[in-house]
Amino acid sequence: MTAGHRQRWAVETMAVAPDDQVLEIGCGRGAAVSLVAGQLATGRIVAIDRAASMVRLATQRNLSHIDAGRAEIRCAGFESADLPNGHFTKIFAVNVSLFWLGDAAQQIARIRSLLAPRGRLYVFGERPTAAHATANLTATEILLGTHGFATTTSSTTRGQGQVLTCVTGTPVE
Ligand SMILES: C[S@@+](CC[C@H](N)C(=O)[O-])C[C@H]1O[C@@H](n2cnc3c(N)ncnc32)[C@H](O)[C@@H]1O
Repeated sequence: MTAGHRQRWAVETMAVAPDDQVLEIGCGRGAAVSLVAGQLATGRIVAIDRAASMVRLATQRNLSHIDAGRAEIRCAGFESADLPNGHFTKIFAVNVSLFWLGDAAQQIARIRSLLAPRGRLYVFGERPTAAHATANLTATEILLGTHGFATTTSSTTRGQGQVLTCVTGTPVE
């Protein structure tokens, strides 16, 4: 199984370091987990998804990384997952409606508490047009800014006008 364009772009954008401690929220079939784990040496990725069917597929796909201790995949919702505070150097989500369906303030506060000092949040999305992408980037930046993150954005256009977006957030001290 090969990873899709959006997962490859996401993992390139994050520039994963060999010692990163990474959390992926909503890993789906685990394509990004494979790409991240492939770049880790002493680091580790914890990936969660609340759908058991996705966790099964992601686990099958990443057995070698799990066996090597570089990846852990768990069936859990972000809201209630048991995760270590102050631990993750990079937290990311690709195409997950994390902040738009639940209590955004609570989710963002949780992300902040899970990040290690100088850790970063990456919110990736895929939108059908440039206008949708701009709207999504702006809304995500405003939301994160309101809750104490400094943000930057990036985007790239893939075939048929689809736009991949990323908002990177760093907690303001
Ligand atoms: C559209 S899929 C994207 C999957 C993958 N990231 C990708 O790019 O292919 C969204 C995934 O996020 C999971 N998800 C959504 N909200 C979640 C939450 N609050 N906690 C954990 N998983 C969540 C869903 O179960 C689903 O598998």
